[in-house]
Amino acid sequence: MKSRILLLSATMFSQVAFAGPTPVDPAMLELADQSRCLVCHDVEIKVRGPAWRDVAKRYRGKPEVEEILVEKVYQGGGGVWGDDYMSSNKRAGMDNIRILVKWILALPDS
Ligand code: HEC
Repeated sequence: MKSRILLLSATMFSQVAFAGPTPVDPAMLELADQSRCLVCHDVEIKVRGPAWRDVAKRYRGKPEVEEILVEKVYQGGGGVWGDDYMSSNKRAGMDNIRILVKWILALPDS
């Protein structure tokens, strides 16, 4: 999924000149790539899974969901965004998943 990262980096550079979506932290995208999340997710657009900005929007002001989401990403699950199902991401490891979920939940609206 390197191509998508390159695309996002290009978008980020253009934001120096244009007011677009708030730039995302490239280090976090790298971690998401290594954790294989980007096979199904993107920050801005729905892929198989929901756009991460939409996830942040949905749970804004509900810090109690953080632990539930960490557990769901780890185990896999469905039923919230449509008919599709997220397979388990155990190989990413609980620590990385927690870091990613915290970051996703804190993403500002575009
Ligand atoms: C095989 C595809 C796939 C992969 C890989 C994947 N996801 Fe998902 N993800 C989904 C789908 C599909 C949903 C929607 C599930 C639902 O409707 O409840 C989802 C939902 C989510 C949600 C919102 C859950 C909710 O209940 O609102 C978060 C947060 C999330 N993913 C984070 C991640 C992270 C972090 C990774 C990498 C460690 C990851 N996902 C890897 C497919 C995937």
